[in-house]
Amino acid sequence: MTVPTHVAIIMDGNGRWAAQRGWPRIKGHKAGVLAVERILEAAADAGVQHLSLYAFSTENWKRPALEVGALMALLRMYLRMFLHKLAKKGIRFHHLGSPEGMPSGILADMKTLEEATAKNTGMTFHLAVNYGSRLELAQAARRCVEESLRPDQVDEAALQARLWTAGVPDVDLLIRTSGEHRISNFLLWQSAYAELYMTDLLWPDFGPAELRAALEDYAQRERRFGGI
Ligand code: IPE
Ligand code: IPE
Ligand code: MG
Repeated sequence: MTVPTHVAIIMDGNGRWAAQRGWPRIKGHKAGVLAVERILEAAADAGVQHLSLYAFSTENWKRPALEVGALMALLRMYLRMFLHKLAKKGIRFHHLGSPEGMPSGILADMKTLEEATAKNTGMTFHLAVNYGSRLELAQAARRCVEESLRPDQVDEAALQARLWTAGVPDVDLLIRTSGEHRISNFLLWQSAYAELYMTDLLWPDFGPAELRAALEDYAQRERRFGGI
């Protein structure tokens, strides 16, 4: 079976999962964290080399302060709790997103995690926090200017090298849960030729069996990249 090198997941539906049970949204986010743990392990076991999980977008700051605060607190707890788990599994951690506007404690924790797992040789786990594809592309363009590139030097390779995913292969399989059929500003450049897999399941209900189903579906696809 052909295993995608890079799997990206838009983990959506935590709020609805909680609402269905008459619970506050944050309980959905907590259940979502447990799903992350299961999927990390399942993806690594399946032989995926890069797993990018969309946890918080640049647009998610628009949510009520209470929810944003709770999400940040949860993230902080998660980062500390999972340090040794990632290390044990040989997984490398990478923060995908902008440091600007992020609480400094979380940035420090993510840096610690990146450094502590830098020598691991297993799957790389890219956690997209404060991530927005448009912001990523705008900052890449800005860097070209700051580095005084000539207009003829600003090509696809130049931009790609300045994305937060520099050096990471393009997305092969993009999964979105919760029944929405949209990209929501996630890895637009990197998913140019990604295979899309949408499921109605809400993120906390997405488990290893569902990941396997997505991988099997991917293995049946014929990719052409514009050729014949
Ligand atoms: C996805 O779940 C997680 C984040 C965006 C943090 P949502 O919180 O968007 O859940 P729904 O879409 O409202 O159900
Ligand atoms: C996308 O979910 C962002 C994350 C999963 C982090 P949203 O819930 O923010 O997306 P929209 O608003 O439904 O497009
Ligand atoms: Mg949502």
